[in-house]
Amino acid sequence: MGIVTLEKDVAAVRESCRVVRKVLTELAQFIQPGVTTAEIDALGREIIRSEGAVPSFLNYNGYPAAVCVSINREVVHGIPSAERIVEDGDIVGIDVGAYKNGYHGDAADTVMVGGVSPEARRLVEVTYEARNLGIAAAVPGNCIGDIGYAVQTYVEANGFSVVQKLMGHGIGRKLHESPGVPNYGEAGMGMKLSDGLLLAIEPMVNAGAAEVSFLQDGWTVVTGDGSLSAHAENTIMINGSHPEILTA
Ligand code: MF3
Ligand code: CO
Repeated sequence: MGIVTLEKDVAAVRESCRVVRKVLTELAQFIQPGVTTAEIDALGREIIRSEGAVPSFLNYNGYPAAVCVSINREVVHGIPSAERIVEDGDIVGIDVGAYKNGYHGDAADTVMVGGVSPEARRLVEVTYEARNLGIAAAVPGNCIGDIGYAVQTYVEANGFSVVQKLMGHGIGRKLHESPGVPNYGEAGMGMKLSDGLLLAIEPMVNAGAAEVSFLQDGWTVVTGDGSLSAHAENTIMINGSHPEILTA
């Protein structure tokens, strides 16, 4: 379980998360119609390395890149490719992990490219708000289920669905630590939360049904019904009534 108490460990995880946010910020500025997803990955790698960090995802269970790039109906874990070109109107999920001084940071954004449809824009906005509500529920005394409950009720009230096959996670010295953080659940259920716990909170929201399937590449998760999907993730540290958003 990723729990930090020593100030030097808190400083280390803050630094890894700062690198992740820097990469996401620069990638969002770089993404425009005509760029390939391989170029997005290459730029991400370069920034991670220039910050003295290591890409958390590269070679993780055989994943072949530093950045996951997941467009439109792709939910998460899209593999960058020189053949895949970003187009006007796309929503582009970018997911980045960085490891430095013994700790990982992990965060994701969904970038709207040019003229996106009103439905796509609403999906992305609901996904960010769901993430923020999930984070707000991450306070001592609450439970893991309170996070998922906050995410799911908001998403479903807006007519969208949360992916249940994949979830957020504890994070720290390893990219994925306990506990799992489902984006659905019941208030008051699951592990009790306490100060110093590091969590990656990452709702994946589908415009249509919640079902997902995997592409032949073994990684890319797509919506079962072909509807759009959006993803937003932050690494946070539980800290009294105000969780610290380390990748803010
Ligand atoms: N944010 C994603 C996760 O926590 C990214 C993992 S990609 C992988 O699951 F390649 F590392 F698996
Ligand atoms: Co994650």
